[in-house]
Amino acid sequence: MSTKKPDDQLLVIFGASGDLTFRKLIPALYDMYTRDLLPERFQVLGTSRTTYDDTGFREEQRGHLEELKGKQENTDAFLGLLHYQAIDTYLSTDYLRLKERIGELQTAFSLPDKVIFYLATPPVMYHIIPSFLLANGLNQPITSDGWRRIIVEKPFGTDLHSAEALNAELRAIFPENDIFRIDHYLGKETVQNILVLRFSNGIFEPLWHRHYIDSIEIVAYEELGVELRGKYYESTGALRDMIQNHLMELMAFVAMEPPPSFDPELMRNEIHKVFTSLRPVTGTQIDRQVVRAQYEGYRQEADVAPDSVMETWVGMKLFIDNTRWSDVPFYLYTGKKMSKKLSEIYINFKSTPHILFDGQCAGGSCNQLVIRIQPDEGISLRFGLKVPGAGFRVERVSMDFRYDSLSHVSLPDAYVRLLLDAMNGDATLYPRSDALEASWRFIDPILNHWKEKAGEGLLFYLPGTDGPEEKDCIWVPE
Ligand code: BG6
Repeated sequence: MSTKKPDDQLLVIFGASGDLTFRKLIPALYDMYTRDLLPERFQVLGTSRTTYDDTGFREEQRGHLEELKGKQENTDAFLGLLHYQAIDTYLSTDYLRLKERIGELQTAFSLPDKVIFYLATPPVMYHIIPSFLLANGLNQPITSDGWRRIIVEKPFGTDLHSAEALNAELRAIFPENDIFRIDHYLGKETVQNILVLRFSNGIFEPLWHRHYIDSIEIVAYEELGVELRGKYYESTGALRDMIQNHLMELMAFVAMEPPPSFDPELMRNEIHKVFTSLRPVTGTQIDRQVVRAQYEGYRQEADVAPDSVMETWVGMKLFIDNTRWSDVPFYLYTGKKMSKKLSEIYINFKSTPHILFDGQCAGGSCNQLVIRIQPDEGISLRFGLKVPGAGFRVERVSMDFRYDSLSHVSLPDAYVRLLLDAMNGDATLYPRSDALEASWRFIDPILNHWKEKAGEGLLFYLPGTDGPEEKDCIWVPE
């Protein structure tokens, strides 16, 4: 993974007038600017259908940046890096104007033939923009040491078939190594720390095994509902929106074998192996192992059908059929409108083979490792200790590490890390096409089953709670 300053280059953002650009990309670039992580020579060209000139685009971004971060001293110099070219992205011939503008900026700022395209657009454009880049010769470098890269936001497909088709389309235009499919969870500092925690500490890895681990739970809960994204959510749902990508990637980081080195491909091979080792869940097993629910009031949200059966909460139990994990259940939970925002991983260790002390951690295991991804980023190790006084009453206590105790460190936003890596051509933290397809291969039967059953089996829960009361019904089929 890269820590070096990237080569000089130009970043072209499609969808530059949109929400992702001002909420995530420009603030991340600004952070990179203040942390001195941008290339020596670097410019950004925003493009979309909205008409702005460079000044108008800069002022628009200044407003958003100030809203997010308050007034900053050095924004003028940063905003000077931004340029804008309006084009109709549905019109192939307009890309010639974009091509000219790229050339003008490269000449004016002595930039090399290195261009990275960011598709911060609705997914329908993932089919259109790359094909017009190809049609106008924008997908290939002109010089032998030049390059072109493309970053694509999620959702990457809506099922296996569409993900395969999109992969095939993109790979016909850009080599796999130059395609960066974003999963912003992998940019989170605490997620990367799963790897360091596991692979750099002699005390955890030997225990990271079915012999010592009873179960693993991965949770990503949000307080917010679907807000203004009803239309998107109605065609997506929690399984596609969170489980297929974010939670399955977290699971892969927890479950993967140590790669021989931190080479991006070796690392991605291990992730791919996890997904291909998933025990398929099919037929009636789905009803027992995958539970879906909807928050009360979802059907009244804007752009949501009054009889929608879309799930806003999913709890599932899955197994990884390999030597390390055979028969260890992995539980994944995600939901909107929950009592609090929280993303955490719980590694539940087995209890001692013989219970010596009465009431030892309420009869269960005292040992749990908690990886807190957000908020209150940190790690806790829980174990049993004797309560002072007579007898041997055992209580579970916690040894805690909190990132905010490192006063000299501020956690960068996930997009800072991911942009920096893509600019450096480092795909370690970007899902590869084969892994992505393998995850869809696992998810597809569940989607199809739910489609057949329509609303049958859908549970409901009250906003501000911990999900449906029946969630404990996820069990192993005999
Ligand atoms: C996005 C989903 O990928 O992740 C959203 O589309 C969700 O629905 C978001 O709210 C959660 O991300 P985070 O970083 O806030 O946990």
